[in-house]
Amino acid sequence: MRTLIIDHPLVDHKLAVLRDKTTPSVVFRQLVEELVTLLAYEATRDVRVEDVEIETPLTTMTARKLTRPRPVVVPILRAGLGMLEGMSKLLPTAEIGFLGMKRDETTLEAITYANRLPEDLSGRQCFVLDPMLATGGTLIASINYLLERGAHDVTAVCICAAPEGLTALEDAIGDKANVTIVVAALDDHLNENGYIVPGLGDAGDRLYGVVD
Ligand code: URA
Repeated sequence: MRTLIIDHPLVDHKLAVLRDKTTPSVVFRQLVEELVTLLAYEATRDVRVEDVEIETPLTTMTARKLTRPRPVVVPILRAGLGMLEGMSKLLPTAEIGFLGMKRDETTLEAITYANRLPEDLSGRQCFVLDPMLATGGTLIASINYLLERGAHDVTAVCICAAPEGLTALEDAIGDKANVTIVVAALDDHLNENGYIVPGLGDAGDRLYGVVD
């Protein structure tokens, strides 16, 4: 497993505004989209391309274009949905799959409550969107789910990660597939309720408000 912590002043700036507890939902949603577009640029560095012959107004040439099968982008509901627009901007031809996971707030274990994904993911590059890599439970369950369907190349795009979550992911996934984690910031620790500190609070609530 590979972890890329993105070092860019615009990422730092947008993240600072996201972390601020006074930032309203409407601004939060817009900034998540912008931030994810920056992360997506790094996350797609190894996206597969092929040579194609094209004609420019002046000549013909061999250029490179995204190849088939199309990549699959998988937002983890609900908070990952807020990242979809930013990712789709860079990968508009990707197929979108959905995985509904939530964590049991007592055990902190991930529970799958919905899925809409291609049955066979062999040969597909998968991009998982989940803003908060906290205990790692949701991401481990999601990545394992994709690997069980034949995926071998998975990149997770996250906004904040806790060291505890990254260690759990490394222990669970190791080198069993080509897995990359792209994250805007590695934070300090998890608190006793499983929240990332300093973090930005509950990403789903900050994006969409509290739903009980
Ligand atoms: N999920 C969140 O939304 N925030 C955290 O800090 C941890 C998990």
